[in-house]
Amino acid sequence: MAKIQVIVGSARKQRLGEEVSDFVLKQAKQKLEHECELVDVKEWLLPYVTGDMPSATSDNYQTDGANEWASKIGEADGYIFVTPEYNASIPAPLKNNIDAIYDEWLEKSSLVITYSPSKGGAASAGNHLHDILERLKMTVVADDVNFPSWGTDYADLDDYKQKLTAGLEELAKLLS
Ligand SMILES: Cc1cc2nc3c(=O)[nH]c(=O)nc-3n(C[C@H](O)[C@H](O)[C@H](O)COP(=O)(O)O)c2cc1C
Repeated sequence: MAKIQVIVGSARKQRLGEEVSDFVLKQAKQKLEHECELVDVKEWLLPYVTGDMPSATSDNYQTDGANEWASKIGEADGYIFVTPEYNASIPAPLKNNIDAIYDEWLEKSSLVITYSPSKGGAASAGNHLHDILERLKMTVVADDVNFPSWGTDYADLDDYKQKLTAGLEELAKLLS
């Protein structure tokens, strides 16, 4: 059995990210025969990366809190990133926490999920995150899962579930 972490990428006080991530975690637990847990960036906020990069390895990251973050991330075999779009990219805290460590991400498997209250569904953020994860030598499920119009009258739960199931199945294949 593999371990998967659902990473909540937004850290605002009032955020959609928590609700979206809970939805993703619930579906993942139902559909996957793997251990799934939520890892909320909001609970792991690191100062802006200040250590020597990128030479730092697992046991000597110099940014405050990065070694603990590395231990948490190192527990997983795969990740489901849940991110909104901030100015066409991912939220700064998510990028910061990705950049703060290195070895723990390498060559793992991942799935990118984006959401937005708008009809666009944060595709640009998904593309950026996809590139970042590939730079970390991750195998990323080819098609990002996109939840447009989250929390609006146009929200389509069945469509979200269908797309998420397809993404989870692809992630499961990568982990088998
Ligand atoms: C700083 C900032 C920048 C944003 N930029 C975009 C954007 O480029 N495209 C978009 O579709 N929505 C954008 N939004 C709207 C977000 O999609 C929306 O606020 C969403 O709820 C953010 O997720 P969160 O509530 O989990 O933080 C932006 C929101 C913030 C706070």
